[in-house]
Amino acid sequence: MSEMKGAVAAGAALGAFTILGATAKGAGKGFKVGLIGCGGRGGGALGNHMAAAKQVGLENTVVATCDYFKGKAEGTGGKYGVPKEKCFGGPTGYKDFLATDVEIVLIATSPNFRPVHYEAAIKAGKHVFMEKPVAVDPPGGRRIIAAGELAKTKGLATVAGTQRRHQRGYQERAFRIQAGLEGNIASGCIYWCGGALWLHRRGEGESDADYLVRNWVSFTGMSGDHIVEQHVHNIDVANWFIGHPPATAAGFGGRARRKTGDQFDFHSVDFDYGGGVHIHSMCRQINGTAGLGGEHFVFNRTTREEKPDLKVPEFEEVGGAYQQEHADLLRSIVAEKPLNEAQNVAEATLAAIMGRISTYTGQLIKWDDLVKNEKSDWYGLTCTPTAEDFEKGEVKAPPDDVVAIPGKA
Ligand SMILES: NC(=O)c1ccc[n+]([C@@H]2O[C@H](COP(=O)([O-])OP(=O)(O)OC[C@H]3O[C@@H](n4cnc5c(N)ncnc54)[C@H](O)[C@@H]3O)[C@@H](O)[C@H]2O)c1
Repeated sequence: MSEMKGAVAAGAALGAFTILGATAKGAGKGFKVGLIGCGGRGGGALGNHMAAAKQVGLENTVVATCDYFKGKAEGTGGKYGVPKEKCFGGPTGYKDFLATDVEIVLIATSPNFRPVHYEAAIKAGKHVFMEKPVAVDPPGGRRIIAAGELAKTKGLATVAGTQRRHQRGYQERAFRIQAGLEGNIASGCIYWCGGALWLHRRGEGESDADYLVRNWVSFTGMSGDHIVEQHVHNIDVANWFIGHPPATAAGFGGRARRKTGDQFDFHSVDFDYGGGVHIHSMCRQINGTAGLGGEHFVFNRTTREEKPDLKVPEFEEVGGAYQQEHADLLRSIVAEKPLNEAQNVAEATLAAIMGRISTYTGQLIKWDDLVKNEKSDWYGLTCTPTAEDFEKGEVKAPPDDVVAIPGKA
């Protein structure tokens, strides 16, 4: 609900918005922007961001880039005229990057690094766009929520790459649900079933750390598993439309085709949202199988409210949600009403992690055991190697093809 209000507020701010009259830092002309994680999505997000800046009338400039592999930072930076000395590399490169005068930081590394990078960016006083998911384990998810609260106290914006919250069709539907026009959600199904992502086989002499960074989509400690890495989008929609995260997860899953890493190929989870509302979640990454994506909800029409005078707002969507999310971020900064999506994306990520723990163990997993109950087995569950292990150069890759066994894990 609060995010919906945020989106409406951002839309409302648009009407009164004049770039030159704005007092926000950098708003006279444009903001200094930088990117951590210069891979496929990072490069895409930077392009989306620059298009969004034009959309809202700003002349943003890219002033710094950072990637684990310095050459990639230089490659992306070079496209925007960033000098090589402002293209940072290595596992601690983000610290030098954050010490520059960059004002808005885009973060698109593998998700395991997100809590450390996001927290550091907020502490350094930067506005952030960060890709989903935002953690791979419960402590990481809670760290994002805490850093998001810090961002609020510092007047810093945070927008997440769960882009459906900036997609017109989803926003209209969310508005109608929250206004009571559709009735309560009684049940539903959410899906992300598709083919395999890329596979990187270990190269001759390649270090454990480099191997994991290149093959991150196969290792749970790097990606969270694909239930977290991809299916988080659909779980986020369920949380958003229902209004809160699930109370429990009970699921199963397995592995049939992967050769490297330790992830499952498929997961099936019953998310219990309380009050008798169950959402079935399905995700799969196997080539040659049926593709299925999206969300399906069943509404209890007897709870519908008639509000004939209520007008559904016209939500802006220019250049698709990938661009619009950056336009919404920029407008919120200029209007000095910073959007803050840290909690939403952290809750979607934590719900996906709860689903994964249930499929790996075969147990019923409770939300409170991830976020509140410090004595539970799951509260402190930490995937290794950690982001800090990478910084210390103490990375040991988990063995390939050794996976969780439900009932024993
Ligand atoms: N919103 C979406 O639709 C969408 C689509 C694709 C990917 N994503 C997300 O974007 C993120 C990146 O995915 P991708 O497909 O671009 O992967 P990628 O492997 O192409 O890019 C990741 C980049 O981050 C770099 N990196 C890794 N660790 C780093 C560190 N510690 N410091 C600096 N750089 C580091 C890697 O070297 C690589 O260049 C993931 O979280 C993924 O889930 C989101």
